[in-house]
Amino acid sequence: MKKNVAVVGLQWGDEGKGKIVDILADGYDCVARYQGGHNAGHTVTFGGRRFVLHVVPSGIFHDGVVCVVGGGVVLDPEAFLEECSGLEAAGVTIKERLLVSNRCHLILPYHRTIEAAFEKHLGDKRLGTTARGIGPAYEDKYGRRGLRVCDLLDSATFPQKLKAQVELKNRTLAALHSDEQLDGEKIRVDYEGFADKLRPLVVDTASFVNQLLRAGKSILFEGAQATLLDIDHGTFPFVTSSSASAGGVSSGLGVSPKHVQAIVGITKAYTTRVGTGPFPSEANDSCGEAIRKIGSEFGATTGRPRRCGWFDGPAGRYAAMINAPDLAVVTKIDVLDTFAEVPFCTDYKYKGSVLKEFPAEAEVLAQVEPVYRMLPGWQTSTAGIRDWNRLPVKTQDYLKFLSDYVEVPIGMVSTGPGREETIRVRDV
Ligand code: GDP
Ligand code: IMO
Ligand code: MG
Repeated sequence: MKKNVAVVGLQWGDEGKGKIVDILADGYDCVARYQGGHNAGHTVTFGGRRFVLHVVPSGIFHDGVVCVVGGGVVLDPEAFLEECSGLEAAGVTIKERLLVSNRCHLILPYHRTIEAAFEKHLGDKRLGTTARGIGPAYEDKYGRRGLRVCDLLDSATFPQKLKAQVELKNRTLAALHSDEQLDGEKIRVDYEGFADKLRPLVVDTASFVNQLLRAGKSILFEGAQATLLDIDHGTFPFVTSSSASAGGVSSGLGVSPKHVQAIVGITKAYTTRVGTGPFPSEANDSCGEAIRKIGSEFGATTGRPRRCGWFDGPAGRYAAMINAPDLAVVTKIDVLDTFAEVPFCTDYKYKGSVLKEFPAEAEVLAQVEPVYRMLPGWQTSTAGIRDWNRLPVKTQDYLKFLSDYVEVPIGMVSTGPGREETIRVRDV
């Protein structure tokens, strides 16, 4: 029987979670997203087709898998419905395969407006968010003001609840010296339209998932963003606003932590980051540019160029501590094929000493000096290799070094974007 496995990102996102969830989903009964929103961009490539999913779980391409959007997700109904129509237009069946929690907090247009005003106010200290309204939507949730999917579906009370929020937000916008004022009536009409389309998908997903668990069905939990973007454990304040690490599964879906039977951590063979914030192993040189070009490192959601650098050992170890993954999946090893040497950051030095712990302060992380170990490059193509034994010995050595360093055994190695471009080392 398949274990209930959580798939989490170990870096700053875009590790290839979408690809790996799609592969692992085969044979599962359910794939469930537990946090984040349409700030995520999860790419799935098969049969010459490429899909970028934002909120729809990456199990949607497998018949027989029910996909669940848990209550820990913040939902922009317009963006979500568009994503669903795009999939349907591409021939993917959504009906009776996709469920949305009645407890999801809603992203409303004012969340984007307020986020834009805040980012503008921060100037060069801005976070470089995806501008999807994620932070302000979670702020309203934790401030106990947020509107949820269940509110949206109650046509008798929604207009009044929305009106109260719009009044409050207009005062906030004025205080932020924003020129924008919100048209509450337009928002109401638009959202009532979305409510009708959303209604057939909405259930109590916590009940649904727990019923599956009681019936002995298997569930794959899909994380968005990643450990270093986690609101509690990430490089605060340069993080997203949700619990992206394995700990978020339980609160986001309403399942006991007892049901998470294994954890798979996804990491690139190097490191990328989108948005601002400290990135000790960033390669601000031609190597960074080469990684960006070879790895097509441009955001799946915003199209922004991703910042690129070498594998960050201390950050990897920290992420392994936070999630305790049973297995690591190392993606995009093929992107390093051309380098004669591959630097691997083994330590952070700060004020002359090696740091023993991953620093809490962004200011410290921004000032650490990365210590590199130069590992030999393999300078042979690994693209598309499916068998560990066919990898060059130097590639195997690099992967073993990485795995030993973070003290997590390797489950899979990814050698290209496609489903088949994958080496299975061991099962979870
Ligand atoms: P996610 O957010 O973690 O799902 O990752 P993204 O989809 O945002 O970014 C990963 C990108 O790398 C996508 O464009 C994938 O198609 C691509 N990708 C995934 N695995 C590999 C790999 O092993 N090699 C290469 N070259 N590309 C990969
Ligand atoms: P996936 O699931 C990479 C980053 C943004 C910004 C910070 C806060 O595809 O790995 P937000 O809009 O969430 O308030 O932005 O987090 N970010 C991501 N970076 N991959 C993601 O998702 C991300 N989601 C948010 O770039 O730095
Ligand atoms: Mg992504």
